[in-house]
This record gives sequence, structure tokens and C-alpha cells, in this order.
Amino acid sequence: MFDSKIYSQRRDRLKKQIQRGLILFLGNEESPMNYPANPYPFRQDSSFLYFYGLDTPCLAAVIDVEADKEIVFGEDVSVEDIIWMGALPSLKERAMQAGVKDTAPPKDLEKTLKQAIQQGKKIHYLPPYRPEIALKIEELLGIHHAVANDYASKELIKAVVEQRSFKIKEEIEEMEKAHSVTYEMHTTAMKTARLGIYERDIVGRIEGIAFSSGCSLAFPTILTINGQILHNHYHGNILKEGRLIVNDSGAESALHYAADITRTFPVTGKFTQKQKEIYEIVLKAQEDSIKSIKPGIKFRDIHVQAAKIIAAGLKELGMIKGDIDEAVKAGAHALFFPHGLGHMVGLDVHDMEDLGEEFVGYDERVKRSDQFGLAYLRFARELHPGFVMTAEPGIYFIPALIDKWISEKKFEQFIDYEKVNQYRDFGGIRIEDNILVTEEGHKVLGKSIPKTVDDVENITANK
Ligand code: GLY
Repeated sequence: MFDSKIYSQRRDRLKKQIQRGLILFLGNEESPMNYPANPYPFRQDSSFLYFYGLDTPCLAAVIDVEADKEIVFGEDVSVEDIIWMGALPSLKERAMQAGVKDTAPPKDLEKTLKQAIQQGKKIHYLPPYRPEIALKIEELLGIHHAVANDYASKELIKAVVEQRSFKIKEEIEEMEKAHSVTYEMHTTAMKTARLGIYERDIVGRIEGIAFSSGCSLAFPTILTINGQILHNHYHGNILKEGRLIVNDSGAESALHYAADITRTFPVTGKFTQKQKEIYEIVLKAQEDSIKSIKPGIKFRDIHVQAAKIIAAGLKELGMIKGDIDEAVKAGAHALFFPHGLGHMVGLDVHDMEDLGEEFVGYDERVKRSDQFGLAYLRFARELHPGFVMTAEPGIYFIPALIDKWISEKKFEQFIDYEKVNQYRDFGGIRIEDNILVTEEGHKVLGKSIPKTVDDVENITANK
């Protein structure tokens, strides 16, 4: 955990932001895999971690804003717990680590909330993303679980986003720890790849690096010779001559801060000419995006700039024709680059996505587009110092999408489908880094993982 003062200060600020009512935070519970006593690894709710740091299941917390009273609710340690799990600090001791003096058993939570409701106080809670938490809201507040999201407090969502968007020094240090493990994961993947082994041979090694370093995974590893499938979690293919490996993976630090890195490299350590040409376009789009990151710029403008670089590169290869600005404005580039440039990273790999992308990545001034491709941009608004963003452009040849657009005669004025069809078995390329916005501009987090054609070939071929 961080120093208890950090959690107290965050909650003090929250009280000032919210001003009235009760704030209810529900921590996560154990989630069974196949029977109750065999749960998935426990992952605490990120906002609970942010305001309390307490990383054990079945906790709740209430802040009575007007009375300036804070309580952590949870069961105390029983002899049974000690028999199965060993000695644990008492609930009081744990709450004190978060700077909270008062604790109470879970049965008192309902009473506390009912009392507040009777006094006409509003109960602010965040949108639930786990069914058991939606059911708990129903039990505690009488709001049907199916509409629990609709009644979540927008005021609280906005206040939490306002705080969590700006990473402090201690959080950046924690992210750097995740990045140093992620550096090992990615360089090991490059050094391990060879003809004839399975994708899972690499996945096992790199995930082992995360766990043996005291970290876990920030998200399920994407490692595939079919990089055109954007979130491909199948790892059963044998590595073959001429294929590229997309490795999108990252560690989550002990305090649950994420790293989210992608590298693409040839199985054999040598790019073909065709691969090199596409790779250089993606690399240019990615490096240009990083250079553009600074306070005051809208992330959507950087996304559009990356799309133009991709379109211009593909024009040189004969796949796009006509005016680049017009082609990108119309959305023709999305055949090759159908996702957004990036998202915030922090306690979640898509930071605060549970609170709603409209609150995290958009605001009064920047509204979401409904155009295919641009609509997937998770974050579009202006950047500020303290934000951490991914920059992850890609080029993909997705046969099903190519065929659909051909059958619809879509953007024929901008796309040479005959040329595109020569690449339909190509796969995909994505390159991604995580960037802190600073007062002066930006800083790329972590030690530099090979990215230029020469550096990638060197590390992948020399083993
Ligand atoms: N790195 C996986 C994702 O951003 O969804």
C-alpha cells in the first residue's frame, strides 16, 4: 500500500467534490471459477484500491460527507480464517493502513444506509460491473440489479475520474515497476520465438516472468501469428516461416498498476520486404503520435494524424488512392486501422472503463464520432500533465472486412481492392508504448523495448 496519508487525502478531496450525502464503495468479492471454494485469483475493484488500498475481498466503505465520518465494513478475522489462510491483521489494523479509524461488521452496512436514506441523504455509488455487486446494491438500496447502473451517481463518477486521471509520483513509480517486468516479458518473447514451437511456448514463459517477479497480468496476453485478429487469445498455432508475431502483453504491479505494450516481430528474426514496408508505416505513425503528446492537444487530433500517416503510407504502396485528408475524413483508412489510437492506463489497463468511456475519454467539448473506426476511440479529449496514455496504431488485413467492403463497393474511390487482396494473408502489425503527459510534453514509460526494424531483427535473430 501507499502511505495512509495518500488515501486520506484522496477521500478528503472526494468529500469536497461531492459535498452532500453518503458515498458507498463496494469492494470486490471472491468470484468462483467452477465451484465456490475454487475462485479466480482475487482482483480488488480499482476505485476501492485508489481510495483505500485494501486488497482483500468482501469489504465495503462509507463516507458520510456532511458528518465527515468514515467507516470500513468487513468481517474480522476468525480462527477458521487463520486455520485456512494463516494470521491476518485485524480489520481495524487494515483500516488504519488506509487512514480510517472506524470499522463495523457487514451487517451494520444496511442499517447505516437505511438510516441515511430515511434522513433524505443521497447514496452515491459507482456503476457495478460484476453481477454480485449489482445484487448487493439491490439488497442494500432496493434498486433492482438490472437498473443498478442507471442509478449510479454521475457526480461521484465525475469526481473519481477527475482524481484518477492525474497520476501522482508514487503511481508513476509503481507503473515503472510494471514496465520493467514488461520489458523482460517482451524481450524474452523476441528471444524465444523460433520456427516449429507453439505460440503458447512463448506465452508460458512471459507470463511466468510476470508471476515470478511478484506481478500478475494486466490483461489476458494477446500473442499470435494472426495479428489481424485484434484481441486474439488463442495460443495454439505453430510458428511458421513468413509469419509475424503480435505480442500485446503487460504486467500488473503488486499494487495493481498496469503496463500495456505491443511489439510485432518476425518468427525467424528477418522481416520480408513486404512486412518491412508495412512495419515502417506503423512505426512512423506510432513515433509521430508519441512526439505529438503534450498538454493541451486533443487525443482525437493525434489519432487522426496517425490515421493520415497510415493512409499516406498505404498510398505509396498503391492500396489507397486519392486525397489523403478526404480519405481519412470519410473513414476509408479504417479498413486497415479499425481501432482507436489508445486509451488511459493506470489501475486498469483501460483505466476507469467501468465508469464509462463517455466520462473518461470524452467531455462537453469532444463528443464521440459514430464513424466506423473513429467510434472505437476510447479517449478523445484534451491531454493534461499526469495523464498516462497508450499510443498503439496498427495496420491489419482482415479478410472478412475486406470482403465485406468489396461486396458493398465501399470507398472504391479511395481503395484499390486488387492491390489490397495481394496482402489478404499478411496478418497484422501493432506497436504500442505507454506515455506520461508532462508539463513540458511527454515521457515514455519503461526502458526502451526494441522497436526499429534493425533492433527488432537483432534481438529476434540473435539467440
Ligand atoms: N492491450 C489490450 C487492450 O488494450 O485491450
